[in-house]
Amino acid sequence: MKKLSLALLLTVLATTPIFADKGMWLLQLMRQQNLEDNMRKLGLQISADEIYSPDAPSLKDAIGIFGGGCTGEVISPNGLVVTNHHCGFGFIQQLSTVEHNYLQNGFWSQSNEEELPCNGIGFTFVVKITDVTDEINARIANGKISEEQSFNRNELAKIGKELFDADNIEGKEYMHPQLLPYFEANKYYLVYYKRYTDVRLVGTPPFAIGKFGGETDNWMWPRHTGDFSMFRIYGDKNGNPAAYSKDNVPLKTPKHLKISLEGFSYGDYAMIMGFPGSTSRYLTADEVKQRMYHKNEPRIAMRDLSLKVIREEMEKSEDTNIKYASKLARISNYWKNSIGMNKAIIDNKVIETKLQEEAGFKAWAKSIGNSDYENVVEKINACVEEMNRTQYLTTLTGELVGNVEFFARNLSDGNKNLFDAPEKINERMKSIYASLHDRDYVHSIDRRIAKEVLPLYFELTKPEERDAYLNEVEKKYKGKLSKYIDEVYDNSILANEKNLNKFLKKPTLKKLESDPAYKLRSAIIASQRELSKKNSEFAKRMNPLHKTYLKGLMQKAGNDPMAPDANSTMRLTYGTVKSYEPKDGVTYNHYTTLKGVMQKENPNSSEFIVPARLKELYEKKEYGDYAMPDGEMPVAFLTTNDITGGNSGSGVLNSRGELIGLAFDGNWESLSGDINFDNIKQRCINVDIRYVLFIVEKFGNCKRLIDEMTIVK
Ligand code: ARG
Repeated sequence: MKKLSLALLLTVLATTPIFADKGMWLLQLMRQQNLEDNMRKLGLQISADEIYSPDAPSLKDAIGIFGGGCTGEVISPNGLVVTNHHCGFGFIQQLSTVEHNYLQNGFWSQSNEEELPCNGIGFTFVVKITDVTDEINARIANGKISEEQSFNRNELAKIGKELFDADNIEGKEYMHPQLLPYFEANKYYLVYYKRYTDVRLVGTPPFAIGKFGGETDNWMWPRHTGDFSMFRIYGDKNGNPAAYSKDNVPLKTPKHLKISLEGFSYGDYAMIMGFPGSTSRYLTADEVKQRMYHKNEPRIAMRDLSLKVIREEMEKSEDTNIKYASKLARISNYWKNSIGMNKAIIDNKVIETKLQEEAGFKAWAKSIGNSDYENVVEKINACVEEMNRTQYLTTLTGELVGNVEFFARNLSDGNKNLFDAPEKINERMKSIYASLHDRDYVHSIDRRIAKEVLPLYFELTKPEERDAYLNEVEKKYKGKLSKYIDEVYDNSILANEKNLNKFLKKPTLKKLESDPAYKLRSAIIASQRELSKKNSEFAKRMNPLHKTYLKGLMQKAGNDPMAPDANSTMRLTYGTVKSYEPKDGVTYNHYTTLKGVMQKENPNSSEFIVPARLKELYEKKEYGDYAMPDGEMPVAFLTTNDITGGNSGSGVLNSRGELIGLAFDGNWESLSGDINFDNIKQRCINVDIRYVLFIVEKFGNCKRLIDEMTIVK
């Protein structure tokens, strides 16, 4: 008995990481922070230089920013890129029509010629990273910039541009710089990027695989989503970025990821490199409460209403289903995240933990006799208290335009300048009209959303917090806001082409200024301007306090490495493959299989449809080279990696740096993770690369893509 428990203890010690997996680490600090040792203890077999090297090809050269805010990786010598389905979603939707519904049916190009160019897409590589902290501090010291300017994004961008201009790095015409503060402006890095804009859709599974589980399963485990899509980067003949042209050629990158079909065992090393968007790990307890009650709560309330309308309308027709698919996913994603985060903050005792940490920090500050540190949390909290209502109103107003397109993209006093060039009014008005009434806009649905969302805005705000025009509206239409909205949606200039043409027959400034939608949009903009002024006043007080707090925390941490909050720059997270216990008595397995897809099938729910072909492959067990040793087809798996939004699409790499999966989500029980990483329950949800390749080859019949990859068996 005793012997057994000792053996057990030893295995537990060998498989349980001793080190916290928390940390979105900066590649450029990997050596300095001595992370390689920790990684090696967890199983890493390659050197830190192979992961990131400032002057030789390394894994980081195969990884880039996909689209606006996701990660993608190059997986062939011909610029083939894999990312999540939900990252490609907007582009796939753009290319879809009722006749060619790629969203619904999937798309598999059978040659490079069949690949589809996408509007507004991009793939961005990191070229160079420089520590410019001393440079910025010198500029503060010699008065070239003020302390206040040292936090200002525009000011920093100007300096970044200046330093970039002075650099004579080769190929500069294809690069752009970005200078950002890190560790609350205790550090600054200048990053050069290279962005390719000719990126084409190569293949995507149908919705029923790529988004299997839909909004119901989103942010949840166990998961069965084949969340991937494939694109290809094209460049000019010299491999440089170029606008779309049929003369462009597939890009050859210095590095592409190898793919492993070996899979993983429990406890295996796993690392992820990608571009996490934003975390807030250094908030005070009061700031966490602000996030809960003045940001998440009003956001949830507004989106509850718009989502109800969108869901109802999407049920009604396939056309609406395509048009609103992307909007539903966008609005629902952080609606659900906000609900889960508020719950997890309570369940995981985040406030209590923060308060304890704050007490510990204060005691330490006192012990070293640093009164700046000692009082900084109180100072932050005093500011938070004053800021709460402004934060609440900022969220509400943002949600107003975030949910109602007719409010967001209408005319406003900013358009008075139309009359500066009367000969162009026709053309410019038509283009404003066209960008509002884009392919996916449905006036009647937007009107329904407005009728839900605007009354709630009135309910949750006080007259003195609103623009004068909105108070006029309230007085005039008390209890009949729906009538007001009908007037706006029926009578304003951009409501329909008839109104637009009527206006264009004899356009006058007076008519423009008396337009109800113009007035409403101008009022919303005025409120936002007011709020943003207040917010930047608060930021002026908060920035130096946060800088001090973080400086103190770093000093207190001593040699323990710390990672700065995510800011959409490249990060590395390392951990292991691991299960978790969502609640007492329940353990979740660390992976799922195709069996689970079949178990979840529900022909009555659009989120749980299983394509006939997938069932056939499942029944015949036609899995090619991709099944696990026990003959099952893996679908998704869990790791302890520390990721957040922006990491979506990031490759999960094994101890040899080979691709074994793609990160695509986080788990419900730890949605407080952006604020406080929870080492016990927080997991990263990944789609298994074997499932990806199985779908490509067996379901999509697109073997040509497998043939160009470098696969290690
Ligand atoms: N929660 C995931 C993320 O934020 C997936 C989002 C898209 N999926 C969805 N069902 N809305 O990356």
